[in-house]
Amino acid sequence: MQVGIIGGTGPAGRGLAIRAALAGHDVRLGSRDAERAASVAASLLGDHDYVLHGCANEEAALAELVVVATPWDAVVATVRPLAAALDGKVVISMANALAKQGRELLALLPPRGSMAGQLQAAIPTARVTGALHHLPASKMEDVGSGLRADVLVCGDDPDAREVTCRFVDSIDGLRAVEVGSLAQAGAIEAFTAVFATINVRHKVHSTLLLGGI
Ligand SMILES: NC(=O)c1ccc[n+]([C@@H]2O[C@H](COP(=O)([O-])OP(=O)(O)OC[C@H]3O[C@@H](n4cnc5c(N)ncnc54)[C@H](OP(=O)(O)O)[C@@H]3O)[C@@H](O)[C@H]2O)c1
Repeated sequence: MQVGIIGGTGPAGRGLAIRAALAGHDVRLGSRDAERAASVAASLLGDHDYVLHGCANEEAALAELVVVATPWDAVVATVRPLAAALDGKVVISMANALAKQGRELLALLPPRGSMAGQLQAAIPTARVTGALHHLPASKMEDVGSGLRADVLVCGDDPDAREVTCRFVDSIDGLRAVEVGSLAQAGAIEAFTAVFATINVRHKVHSTLLLGGI
């Protein structure tokens, strides 16, 4: 599958890009600056010949499946001008609205209850899902880290949820767990604050692994 990552030069985008490329996807790592994207993509590739190249966010938005990996407060402004390119597509939101206070991360409440909801409102003809929120970027980028994680997937369009689950399951170490509608996104995103605070307190990069399923 062609996978475009908008805001792909940050830790979250880089980790996802390399793992998706390893899984055999054709990855377009996007940025506001195509040259920066090209140099990040080259650094991720090293001597390997996976299909991964850097490009402008506008080109990443042309892929079959698109992931939005900008900071939460840049999501709407970044994606709104790309609405036509994203029409009808599955667009995965991985953004978490968080604020740091001392050694804790606190969940913020975005206007529509979640960043995924805000994204869906900004690009109403796309099929937005929420996923990948709890993955530790450093472990994603280190492909030898032995990462194992469950990934909670939500969205209003059942087919979009299925496509998202298939994409997640294609990546080594990840298992998709379908949750339900986009109304679940607020709780999923807010839980990242708990997760990140645990990681700071215990100096770890823990992952979500659900028992009994
Ligand atoms: N870091 C993690 O462990 C992790 C895990 C799961 C989910 N997430 C979520 O994934 C998203 C990305 O996380 P990150 O840590 O990779 O973030 P980041 O490094 O702060 O930002 C990612 C990229 O977004 C672009 N960007 C920055 N400011 C922007 C702006 N004002 N407008 C448009 N683009 C902008 C930058 O790329 P260019 O300058 O190249 O355009 C940057 O490299 C966040 O929403 C976060 O909540 C993060």
